[in-house]
Amino acid sequence: MNIIKMTQSHIKQVAQIESLCFSHPWSEESIYDSFINPCNRFYISVEENKVVGYIGLSVIVDEGYILNVAVHPHCQGKGIGKALVKTVDDFAVENNLAFVTLEVRPSNEKAVSLYESFGFTKVGERKDYYSNPKENALLLTKYYNSKKE
Ligand SMILES: CC(C)(COP(=O)(O)OP(=O)(O)OC[C@H]1O[C@@H](n2cnc3c(N)ncnc32)[C@H](O)[C@@H]1OP(=O)(O)O)[C@@H](O)C(=O)NCCC(=O)NCCS
Repeated sequence: MNIIKMTQSHIKQVAQIESLCFSHPWSEESIYDSFINPCNRFYISVEENKVVGYIGLSVIVDEGYILNVAVHPHCQGKGIGKALVKTVDDFAVENNLAFVTLEVRPSNEKAVSLYESFGFTKVGERKDYYSNPKENALLLTKYYNSKKE
């Protein structure tokens, strides 16, 4: 699995995956704006020189927030999502993050079980967070107990 840091040249392909995966996809411009934010880092999975998935993480001091993760529909179910979440999980350990958190639709069973397999657990719910279709968000968090006494 070839996972590398995203560069500006990958943004167009990431936006294409967004549009295939979400009812409210991020535009190329909003991905670019997020990409140049120094708090954020994006990783992509590449196969035969094509971007097949990506994950975005925002880091503020020792707190991580997963912005988004998506795998091209033709490439799902092959372990790419798992490899992308592992990249963020490894980053959290290596950089002593206290926790990583994210929102997800409860109906998104694939994504929920992917996160749960890494030790993320439900810490709350945000009412009517999503639209089209309207749905609450599950707030999932993994704590790392990384602080040394
Ligand atoms: C969610 C998503 C990123 C997972 O990526 P993927 O490459 O398809 O997932 P993987 O092949 O790495 O599978 C990882 C885990 O996901 C879960 N999973 C995958 N397919 C599943 C399915 N059909 N049903 C339930 N769980 C499933 C399992 O826990 C699996 O681990 P396992 O293989 O050890 O059982 C991908 O389906 C996707 O892009 N979906 C659309 C966008 C999206 O919903 N993003 C999440 C927003 S929070």
